[in-house]
Amino acid sequence: MSKERTIPKHVAIIMDGNGRWAKQRGKERHEGHIAGAESVTAVIRAAGDAGVDYVTLYAFSTENWGRPEAEINAIMELFCYMVASRTEELVKEGVKVRIMGERSRFSPKVLSMIESIETTTAEGKKLTLIIAFNYSSRREMLLAAQEIARRAVAGEIKVEDIDEELFSNSLMTAGIPDPDLIIRTSGEYRLSNFLLWQASYAELYFPETLWPDFGKEEFQRALDIYAGRERRFGKVIQDNEEK
Ligand code: FPP
Repeated sequence: MSKERTIPKHVAIIMDGNGRWAKQRGKERHEGHIAGAESVTAVIRAAGDAGVDYVTLYAFSTENWGRPEAEINAIMELFCYMVASRTEELVKEGVKVRIMGERSRFSPKVLSMIESIETTTAEGKKLTLIIAFNYSSRREMLLAAQEIARRAVAGEIKVEDIDEELFSNSLMTAGIPDPDLIIRTSGEYRLSNFLLWQASYAELYFPETLWPDFGKEEFQRALDIYAGRERRFGKVIQDNEEK
């Protein structure tokens, strides 16, 4: 009997290696990010075609504010450019976009682009694209803990009510299933403050490819590798059981 290929419902990606890609070509770092934006487009399309329901991209971490100002500005500009130039295509392809992260530090222009893309793509049904932008997992968990504590002090919940479900629903990813597959490009083997709670049972894949060189074929290869993995969630799979 042929076994159906397992497609991950949610793929999360740490897009790493833009700077090295640029350096290898004698270019400025921001040119690596521009090239990386093309990979974003290719991967969203490949994910939609493959039947993936959610893609999360780590585009800017809370720690990235420590980069040179010119590079930060280039990433913000690139974000605005991407929103302005790709929204129509995203709508056509049925992609719903959510921006995940703290918004207080963004410029009015970035804020208005965030609102624009979320509103315009809200009816997308084929794929949900989550862009982690000024996101860090520890900060996300601290904010969730504060919110839960506030509700407990206000008498809205009892301490015994605090379980995994309530905690998950207090995170920025509330309502989004945990990632099944996390990819980090460029041969770095770390999660770097990305979806640490949500990654508990995710399969991890670390291709050597630098992000600007990661396209449709590379994404399909990641799906093949995922399909070949055995996920046990801490349990034992019986010999006669379908995997
Ligand atoms: C990591 O590579 C990449 C980033 C911090 C920025 C990611 C941004 C994009 C791919 C383009 C914008 C996309 C959207 C959706 C706004 P790195 O600079 O750390 O590379 P390095 O480790 O080689 O220096």
